[in-house]
Amino acid sequence: MTERPSTAVRPRTAIVAAMAQELAALLAHLDGDFTVQAHAGRRFHVGRLHGEPVVLVLCGIGKVAAATTAVLLAERYGVQRLVFTGVAGGLAPGVRVGDVVVAGSLLQHDMDASPLFPRWEVPLTGRSEFAADAPLSEALAAAAAQVLAEPGHYGAAGLSDEVHALGVHEPALHQGLIVSGDRFVSSAGESVALQAALPAALAVEMEGAALAQVCHDLGLPFAVLRTISDRADDSAHVDFMRFIEVVASHASAAIVGRWLQSLPGR
Ligand code: ADE
Repeated sequence: MTERPSTAVRPRTAIVAAMAQELAALLAHLDGDFTVQAHAGRRFHVGRLHGEPVVLVLCGIGKVAAATTAVLLAERYGVQRLVFTGVAGGLAPGVRVGDVVVAGSLLQHDMDASPLFPRWEVPLTGRSEFAADAPLSEALAAAAAQVLAEPGHYGAAGLSDEVHALGVHEPALHQGLIVSGDRFVSSAGESVALQAALPAALAVEMEGAALAQVCHDLGLPFAVLRTISDRADDSAHVDFMRFIEVVASHASAAIVGRWLQSLPGR
């Protein structure tokens, strides 16, 4: 049985998963007495994970889905912080399949209201990058570093032949810029263009920067944790599907679990 943390009132954490497989891995660890509330086409699982109060929900894909989910979690469920977990395409040369990226900041790579506003700037906000909460991100990165250093961090699959076949070697942890847009980046040409335009970008996905903008508006601390499923190139779609089947859920559930168990006051 999971031990409950000592104090009665603990901050409620939203954990937003990008894919059903990831949500399933997290749900498997929920403490027994949770409720499921259907709203706005989503199922919000309200309960405790490793003894900590949480709301677990599947986000949906793309920036609008992420923004809607974040608003609902803040306004309807009163969460005090938000952690997004999912997969991403690697952009920077050293970001390989199986690596983990914790966002330092996020940017919408498809935002362009030029010449009225600088490219990538969210109009009328004066900013293009939205910083993730530093203490939360550091704590998640520390949990990720611990999990990745352990043998068998990809769950029962371990670093099996099938995982190796996906191109996964010893996974590394990265922290920095993640870019988001309403496109699955699946050609070398597009990936190279993104890297040339945004050389600091480590990884590309479809939700994080939208969630970041909403959390920024609401003053809600957030972090984004991504496992690299593909290199955002011509084989991205093949690698993506296989990665999700074989490993995607294990790493993020283990990292989020480790982080929750490391929270102060337990
Ligand atoms: N999520 C995972 N891989 C991705 C890619 N190549 N493009 C956009 N989002 C992704």
